Amino acid sequence: MSANPSNYSPDSIDLDRLHAAVKREKQDLQPGREPVPMLVIFLAMVVAVIAGGQLGLMTGEWNFETSNPFLAASSPDPRPGAGEGAASVDPFQTAMKKGASGYAVCGGCHQGNGMGIPGQFPPLAGSEWVVGGTERLIRVVQHGLVGAITVKGQSYNTPGGMQAFGAAMSATDLANVLTYIRNSWGNEATMITKEMVEKVRTEEKRVQQWTEAELAPFADKNVPGDIPAGPGATKPAA
Ligand code: HEC
Repeated sequence: MSANPSNYSPDSIDLDRLHAAVKREKQDLQPGREPVPMLVIFLAMVVAVIAGGQLGLMTGEWNFETSNPFLAASSPDPRPGAGEGAASVDPFQTAMKKGASGYAVCGGCHQGNGMGIPGQFPPLAGSEWVVGGTERLIRVVQHGLVGAITVKGQSYNTPGGMQAFGAAMSATDLANVLTYIRNSWGNEATMITKEMVEKVRTEEKRVQQWTEAELAPFADKNVPGDIPAGPGATKPAA
């Protein structure tokens, strides 16, 4: 048994050559398992590409600019209050929203419903101190209040009075909270702006708490200053 081709004769049995010849043959096709013709595969791809494009157009919202996460930085920020629309947000509504969360500082005493606690913490709902002159209201919260006071015909004289919040709160936070208490629980009064709070801060360097008598001259005075156009500007000062 030799592998030398020169010794080949049809009668000799060369297993190596025989196997090599068999391996070169394609396998017999089996019924039902014939390979799919290339043309069919190609046509299926063309249909998929065209149909995909059509679906994208028909579903409308899809857009390469906005749907591409890699371009997200340059597309508008979808969060409320962000992006182009931010400038048109109503300053009164913004102050009310921020003031509502800032009010957590006051709510422990004056309560979430602004009703206070009888004999202990005076109400802010319907209080003439809240919806009256802005000058007195800003001074009360900026510097604090102590001694006997009258609110809605009721007397209060809680030991220690109310602390000053001027040092603990920014002018913006204070303005937002005051706008909030002036326009909640049925109260309706003009917005208090950060500029108004700043004006009182620079003009009045007082460190001790006010008394009712000391503040009487400011009861109906309003701190001058522009109020942004919007619902807060048109509410009547009560
Ligand atoms: C620790 C309790 C306490 C907290 C907190 C507090 N207050 Fe007061 N507040 C009082 C007391 C007590 C008085 C009455 C002071 C007095 O008797 O002289 C008062 C009085 C007032 C008044 C005048 C009276 C009235 O009811 O209208 C206003 C306005 C007011 N507080 C607003 C605020 C605001 C705004 C905040 C939050 C930034 C706040 N208070 C946080 C206890 C508190």
